[in-house]
Amino acid sequence: MTSKSPQRPAPFIKGLIPTLNHRGFMSESLDLFSRQFVSEAANLSAEVLDMGCAYGVATIAALQEGACVHACDMDAGHVNILVREIPPNLRGRLSTSVGALPDTEFPDERFGAILCARVLHFLRGQEIRTSLEKMYRWLRPGGKLYLVADTPYTGFWQAIVPEYERKKELGEEWPGFIDDIGALLESGSVPHGMLSYLNPLDADILARECHRVGLAVEEAGFFGRDGSDETRARHHAGVIAVKPGHGSPASAGS
Ligand SMILES: C[S@@+](CC[C@H](N)C(=O)[O-])C[C@H]1O[C@@H](n2cnc3c(N)ncnc32)[C@H](O)[C@@H]1O
Repeated sequence: MTSKSPQRPAPFIKGLIPTLNHRGFMSESLDLFSRQFVSEAANLSAEVLDMGCAYGVATIAALQEGACVHACDMDAGHVNILVREIPPNLRGRLSTSVGALPDTEFPDERFGAILCARVLHFLRGQEIRTSLEKMYRWLRPGGKLYLVADTPYTGFWQAIVPEYERKKELGEEWPGFIDDIGALLESGSVPHGMLSYLNPLDADILARECHRVGLAVEEAGFFGRDGSDETRARHHAGVIAVKPGHGSPASAGS
C-alpha cells in the first residue's frame, strides 16, 4: 500500500505518530529492544536494516550514532518523509527502499543487524515464518535480529486475553490471532484501509519462531508501552537472536 501525500501526521497522543497506512503508530521514543539495536548498530561497520521503519525513529537514532542504515517500509509515504526530514550530515549513510514482508528481497548476508519493530503482528503465521527465514538469510553470520511485537495485552485486543491464554494453554501456534478486529473496536467495524485481522504475539512465540529458522535466542521478554521493563507490563514483546556462524559483523566490511 502506498500513500501519496507524504506529510508526517501530528501525534495522536503524545509520542505516538499515526502511520499513513493504518498500521498502528510510530513511537517517537525507542523501546528497550530498539535501543539495543541502535547501540549494536553503532559498533558495526556492516550496514544494518530497519524493517518497517515508518518515519525512522530507530533509523535516525542509529545514523546519529554513526551506523550505516538501510530503512525499508511498505509505505512509500513513510520512506519519503524520512528521506526529506533526515539531516544532511546523516544522508550519506542512509539508503532506503519500499517493500513489504514477506515478499521483499535483499541479498543474502547483506546486513550486520536487523531491527523489525512492531511489524510482525500485522502478518499471518505463515507470513511471519517466511519473513524470519528471509531475515535469517539477510543477516551475516554473527549478526543479530531484534524483534518487537505488540501483544494481546495492549489496546482493544486486551478483550481477547482470556481466550488467548486458554488457546496458549492448549498449545495453539498463534493463540493471539484475531480474525475480525472490527468486533473489538468501539466503531464495531474496521476503518477503511485498516487490516481486518491482527496477530498479537508474545515473547515465547517470537523466541520459538527464531529457533525454528536457526537463530540462537539471547534475550526474550515483555515490556511496557513506555519502554519500561516493569515486570507486569506486557504491552510489547521482544527478542534478540543471533545467527550462528563464524566472523564478527563488527569487523566485517559493508
Ligand atoms: C506500528 S508501526 C512501527 C514503526 C516503528 N518500527 C516503531 O517501532 O515505532 C509499523 C510500521 O511497519 C510498516 N509495516 C507494516 N507491515 C509491514 C510489512 N508487511 N512489511 C513492511 N513494513 C510493514 C508500516 O507501514 C509501519 O510503518
